[in-house]
Amino acid sequence: MAKIIGGVGTSHVPSIGAALDKGLADTPDWKPFFDGYIPGKQWMADMKPDVAVVIFNDHGNSFFLDRVPTFAVGVAETYRPVDEGWGPRNVPDFKGAQDMSWHFVDQLVERHFDPLVCREIDVDHGLQVPMELFFGHPDAWPVKVLPIWVNTIQFPIPTPQRCWDMGKVLRDAIESFPGDDRVVIMGTGGLSHQLQGSRAGFINRAADEAWLNGIADNYEHYRDMTREDYVEEFGSEGAELIMWLVMRAAMNDKVTLKHRHYHAPASMTGAGMVVLENA
Ligand code: DHB
Ligand code: FE
Repeated sequence: MAKIIGGVGTSHVPSIGAALDKGLADTPDWKPFFDGYIPGKQWMADMKPDVAVVIFNDHGNSFFLDRVPTFAVGVAETYRPVDEGWGPRNVPDFKGAQDMSWHFVDQLVERHFDPLVCREIDVDHGLQVPMELFFGHPDAWPVKVLPIWVNTIQFPIPTPQRCWDMGKVLRDAIESFPGDDRVVIMGTGGLSHQLQGSRAGFINRAADEAWLNGIADNYEHYRDMTREDYVEEFGSEGAELIMWLVMRAAMNDKVTLKHRHYHAPASMTGAGMVVLENA
């Protein structure tokens, strides 16, 4: 059966991709951010996963506000990086883990989830940037992807508990999938940021630090918070952090925090990373 080899959490700020494209990664503004990912990248290279499950939100690129699914799962053969308005980026297409995706979709429906099933869809910075942070800029990606979209854009977003419950189905789906694929789960988004309204520019460093320290061992606290608590504590876009709960729920009750990094601000965001292994 397929095996979960670890879980990572990471921010997915679009200007990270722009910094890479413009060769700014070694400038004083960006170097401390990218340096923090060196151990995470090394961990990924050592662990050699075959499949990356990437949990992220679309940002008005593939779903606009006229139709926003609460949960969507990709079952495509290939996902193209979407042009977010600054021209196409030099990012290779992503090959889909198609059979595993279909198995996951089937298990979701069996367990009373109702996902939108996407046979053809492009992926934005929510997936692109985490892949670049952990796998660099290869000619072809060394893993297939299983993309999961969560609505964190438009009211009402799903509850943290619902994201947790989806993570449990994800774990069971992977562990009942035939073969010996090594699977890494990537929860993306956050940490604190608010890009709109009277609190635009809001960052909560103390809450971010507590999240990075607590997501391994204090997950009940974050699972039991309300959606409103997330917006209050992390900002309206910081509520993206609920997507890390899908990853955390797919891991064991006890995990080891292998790597952790925080840098603020990256663009408008408190940017963080963790690497978790099952204990
Ligand atoms: C920023 C952060 C995000 O998570 C995002 O999706 C878009 C923009 C930012 O800080 O600029
Ligand atoms: Fe985002």
